[in-house]
Amino acid sequence: MVNKNDRVTFGSKLGVILATVGCAVGLGNIWRFPYMTGANGGAAFLLLYVICILLLGLPVMITEFFIGRHSRRNAAGAFKAMAPGTKWSIIGYNGVLAAFLILGFYSVVAGWTLEYITEAFSSSLSGKSAVEFANDFTAFSSSIVRPVVWTVIFVVLTHFIVVSGVDKGIERASKWMMPVLFLMLVVLCIRSVTLPGAEKGLAFLFKPDFSKIDSSVVLSAMGQAFFSLSIGMGCLITYSSYFGEKTNLQATALQVTILDSLVAILAGVMIFPAVFSFGIEPTAGPELVFITLPNVFNQLPLGNVWSIIFFLLLGLAALTSTISLHEVATAYVHEEYNMTRKRAGAFVSLEILILGVISSLSMGILKEYTVFGLTFFELLDYVTTKIMLPFSGMLICIFVSKRVDKSILKEELTNKGTVPFYFFNTYAFFTKYIAPVAIGLIFLHELGLITLIKNMF
Ligand code: TRP
Repeated sequence: MVNKNDRVTFGSKLGVILATVGCAVGLGNIWRFPYMTGANGGAAFLLLYVICILLLGLPVMITEFFIGRHSRRNAAGAFKAMAPGTKWSIIGYNGVLAAFLILGFYSVVAGWTLEYITEAFSSSLSGKSAVEFANDFTAFSSSIVRPVVWTVIFVVLTHFIVVSGVDKGIERASKWMMPVLFLMLVVLCIRSVTLPGAEKGLAFLFKPDFSKIDSSVVLSAMGQAFFSLSIGMGCLITYSSYFGEKTNLQATALQVTILDSLVAILAGVMIFPAVFSFGIEPTAGPELVFITLPNVFNQLPLGNVWSIIFFLLLGLAALTSTISLHEVATAYVHEEYNMTRKRAGAFVSLEILILGVISSLSMGILKEYTVFGLTFFELLDYVTTKIMLPFSGMLICIFVSKRVDKSILKEELTNKGTVPFYFFNTYAFFTKYIAPVAIGLIFLHELGLITLIKNMF
């Protein structure tokens, strides 16, 4: 066991925010958010997503910060420390498992960004029609060697940053990556909204059509909110266990939530005008970003430079997130099994490589092997984002409401009374009632239980 006081902490206030934003902002915002929005009807999905962020996301994030800094342990150890001898640590184990499973599909998509960077360098992303871009993507993602090699490279990259240590690796990397990423995104948005026909894309993103809302759209919006904010998995528990005593937990949660949502919406503004301008289907699915943007770059002067910048940006955003996911699993193995960080990291990387390779191949030669009609890649995504994350988010809220004395909660969240928390009672109410009940109802509805009960009367 690592002594509580020996744990490293993030060096500066800015470092805390940047590292946590780096964890939250990633493929979830730039790849998954546009494709989910496109597949679930546009603005109506965005609206539900924002509601989920505010009603469920923010309270769960503050609660995870509380658990992490209060216990100063990894995701699973935190629950053992705060409720010894109980079954609550299952939340932590669920989180560690989710980290492995998420990395299993996440590193595949992260690998795709590397392919596009090299293609842009060799100028093979220019001079093609929209259909050719789409066909090329399918040919690439379903092939056997290249996507697998990129997945492996991405996992190895993550591995080295994680084992080089939290303070040195993660913080230093996030410090310059996040601001650069943000700037690049703004530039690309400006380009996209000035394309001919851009208004249609903006209308799709911002003018809700409420007839598009059904229970699966609600579940998708909730899953996306959890995934994008990195909550319900102990990721933020692990990160906040490195926060210093003076870190303002509520303010940090609010800043991270706002920045994360802003990046997602900017990604939408970057993608949808282009989707409509180039006549691409918004419902294209996981390839949406990869088949839309090369068209945009293709129409620009210095198109390859644009491609390189964008896919580099996407790769970096993915890297700061894979680091955080890897860290959850590594911190757990390191602290709970008394292994060195290096060995723990290697063990974790090896498992992720196995999952990653299978899920990459499930785009091609293993496509026929499905469970409930989902390929391995889709299954990992579904199980983690739509089930595991919201479910443990719900349990985290119940845990704190039941097991933690309100005065202890308030003391930690106000740094022993030194920073005010004006909405503490609202927060406590949301955590105790609104968030768990809402998540529970969405689950019941998706399982068809509510319809069943209605039909009985
Ligand atoms: N939120 C990140 C993204 O949007 C992905 C991620 C990192 C994540 N850590 C997580 C998702 C923990 C869920 C749980 O890309």
